Amino acid sequence: MAPRKIIIDTDPGQDDAVAILLALASPQEIEVLGITAVAGNVPLALTQKNARMVCELAGKPETLVFAGCDAPLRRKLTTAEHVHGKTGLDGPTLPDPTMPLQQAHAVDFIIDTLRGHDPKTVTLCPVGPLTNIATALRKAPDIADRIQEIVLMGGAYFEVGNITPTAEFNIYVDPEAAGIVFACGAPLTVMPLDVTHKALVTAKRNAAFRALNSPVGDAVALMTEFYERFDREKYGTDGAPLHDPCVAAYLIRPELFSGRFINVEIETSSDLTLGMTVADWWGVSDRAPNATFMGQVDSDGFFALLTERLGRL
Ligand code: BDR
Ligand code: CA
Repeated sequence: MAPRKIIIDTDPGQDDAVAILLALASPQEIEVLGITAVAGNVPLALTQKNARMVCELAGKPETLVFAGCDAPLRRKLTTAEHVHGKTGLDGPTLPDPTMPLQQAHAVDFIIDTLRGHDPKTVTLCPVGPLTNIATALRKAPDIADRIQEIVLMGGAYFEVGNITPTAEFNIYVDPEAAGIVFACGAPLTVMPLDVTHKALVTAKRNAAFRALNSPVGDAVALMTEFYERFDREKYGTDGAPLHDPCVAAYLIRPELFSGRFINVEIETSSDLTLGMTVADWWGVSDRAPNATFMGQVDSDGFFALLTERLGRL
């Protein structure tokens, strides 16, 4: 089967970095048409730079990287240096990128790519706030019908919130954008915290990255070691969740994940629950399903896949 054509929309972030590495390591299943950076974990100037550093780490400097929106649609940017460090990629020391940033705006790249390919042949993979995707949908509503699938990391139901008591970071940062994406009508697959909190980098799993004995293995081990301190302290877990790589893993081995096709709406008006993904997991409303909301992951299978693929870089 031909590899699936994707655009990764991202705010690196250590876990974003691992998602990019996993996708770039899997050309048989995934063709990365481009990487679009958005403001999120850290400001845009850093996320676009970090995305290029990660492509160079992967040995793929030919990857197209675009800068997108530097602020949410209607709100002030909330960042997450408390999790990811000042650079967003704290942990390893990576060289500044020498590969170019593309001239075009990320939003135009998303629109042009969807219009330039046959309908339903390009998948969008957002793993940060949804500002770029929502802006593209607003600017060019015709693209909604052309999207093969949107596979995103965001939201939570059973795990509720990580940035507020009820909201997950990516959705909370730009809830209006999330509202647009969840209502756009394209097939939508969601990796919420309910899944990603089951994909924890334990000491043994981190040792397996290190045992790859390669620059990529070392960098990933150092990234996860840096950012796990936050989740260890907060949740008392043995290691940090690898949120964003769940999206890439789903494209390679969808059978690792299971969930339900349900209605998911985004809260955009309540101060208390802003950015909550109101997921009708139990089917108690009559609202029409709009998303496959994942709930389970085979975490051993996920880490086996990830480690094997990182070993190819
Ligand atoms: C999400 O927020 C970011 O901090 C991570 O990169 C991930 O995309 C998890 O809530
Ligand atoms: Ca992210």
